[in-house]
Amino acid sequence: MMDSHKQLFFLSFLPLLLLLLSGHMGLQLTEAHLQRHEMNYPPKMLLVFGDSYVDTGNTRIDQAGSWKNPYGVTFPGKPAGRFSDGRVLTDFIAKYLGIKSPVPYKFRKLMLKQLKSGMNFAYGGTGVFDTSSKNPNMTIQIDFLKQLIKEHVYTTSDLNNSVAYVSVAGNDYNFYLATNGSIEGFPSFIASVVNQTVTNLLHIQRLGVRKIVVGGLQPLGCLPSSTALSSFQQCNSTFNDLIGLHNKLLNQAVTKLNQKSKDNSTFIVLDLFDTFMSVLNHPSTNNIKDPLKPCCVGLSSQDFCGSVDERNVKQYKVCDSPKSAFFWDLLHPTQAGWHAVYNKLQTTTSALRRLRY
Ligand SMILES: *[C@@H]1O[C@H](CO)[C@@H](O)[C@H](O)[C@H]1NC(C)=O
Ligand SMILES: *[C@@H]1O[C@H](CO)[C@@H](O)[C@H](O)[C@H]1NC(C)=O
Ligand SMILES: *[C@@H]1O[C@H](CO)[C@@H](O)[C@H](O)[C@H]1NC(C)=O
Ligand SMILES: *[C@@H]1O[C@H](CO)[C@@H](O)[C@H](O)[C@H]1NC(C)=O
Ligand SMILES: *[C@@H]1O[C@H](CO)[C@@H](O)[C@H](O)[C@H]1NC(C)=O
Ligand SMILES: *[C@@H]1O[C@H](CO)[C@@H](O)[C@H](O)[C@H]1NC(C)=O
Repeated sequence: MMDSHKQLFFLSFLPLLLLLLSGHMGLQLTEAHLQRHEMNYPPKMLLVFGDSYVDTGNTRIDQAGSWKNPYGVTFPGKPAGRFSDGRVLTDFIAKYLGIKSPVPYKFRKLMLKQLKSGMNFAYGGTGVFDTSSKNPNMTIQIDFLKQLIKEHVYTTSDLNNSVAYVSVAGNDYNFYLATNGSIEGFPSFIASVVNQTVTNLLHIQRLGVRKIVVGGLQPLGCLPSSTALSSFQQCNSTFNDLIGLHNKLLNQAVTKLNQKSKDNSTFIVLDLFDTFMSVLNHPSTNNIKDPLKPCCVGLSSQDFCGSVDERNVKQYKVCDSPKSAFFWDLLHPTQAGWHAVYNKLQTTTSALRRLRY
């Protein structure tokens, strides 16, 4: 997500925690077995591809809000290139895997010691196809990894111990709507976005990555950019229905890919649609108030979270408690929002568990 115009720890305790939880929840034998297996073979690296939902610093400082105040106010306490007030989904996934959040590709030469945790190739504003952003699309991001393999920065064995996360969070669709807009043409465009996504997933697999997770598309019709007209009261169900088609095609395609791959479990879809909906529909469970209302907004319709005027006076306002907001700006969740989504993913799906073996 994110478009320059539209504004657009460590886990040594995890095995113990899992054991305690499994006892607590009375998991069955097979799952207990799975967990033992998981503990023996945790992946060592996380590779991240995609857009602003997972970009942790690649987008240039002069480009977008992610490097401006008040982004990063919760974590790390100042702007640091994340499109949120703090951590994003892949930070939580890295934590789950017991590894450091991967280094942004841009900083790879400055943080040599940390390359063993993997790398983040994601750039805000990008899609699987070209968008209004000049940042590298996903094909180019994957080529960056290919180049690093050629340069022996990563070995075959590194990749065989890696998980890739692929975020396709909607910039292709925002760009389509902004430049073409025909609702009749939308379904066939969705099919081509899913096709290109599949091409990218296969490309990543051919480089030797063992597990590849792709995010299902979140309900774009519930983002503040879609709900502003209703004063952040109502999701746009027309838009969400179209997203349903994207997710259906993606799930079908991934099932097919798995049937063709040796172990039937290389590719995993994270159901961000149902997860977002579930958190948005039960906000109080997650201590969230006014779930559709963004925390940081521009003072006028020309302004966005992070805007300043010529005299550097801020043209936005931030809510009192980012911890009780789900959305940070018009497009992106807060750290609290991502944390709620991560918790929900852990309790309602097996997707994250499947990453650990
Ligand atoms: C990705 O970007 C490159 C370089 O701009 C371009 O040649 C290529 O067509 C793009 N790929 C897709 C699938 O749009
Ligand atoms: C990848 O790791 C698995 C499990 O350790 C092993 O069975 C497999 O042979 C490895 N593949 C390659 C290409 O090294
Ligand atoms: C835009 O719409 C036209 C006609 O509806 C169609 O031919 C064209 O392929 C569309 N462009 C994209 C990028 O889908
Ligand atoms: C997607 O790929 C399949 C098989 O590779 C092909 O049959 C289909 O026409 C493609 N669809 C689009 C919209 O590109
Ligand atoms: C809902 O979303 C669709 C697709 O983006 C758009 O065409 C329509 O105008 C939106 N409706 C409202 C009420 O915003
Ligand atoms: C592959 O996994 C799916 C979903 O877990 C399952 O329904 C299917 O039977 C499996 N296929 C094979 C060949 O193991």
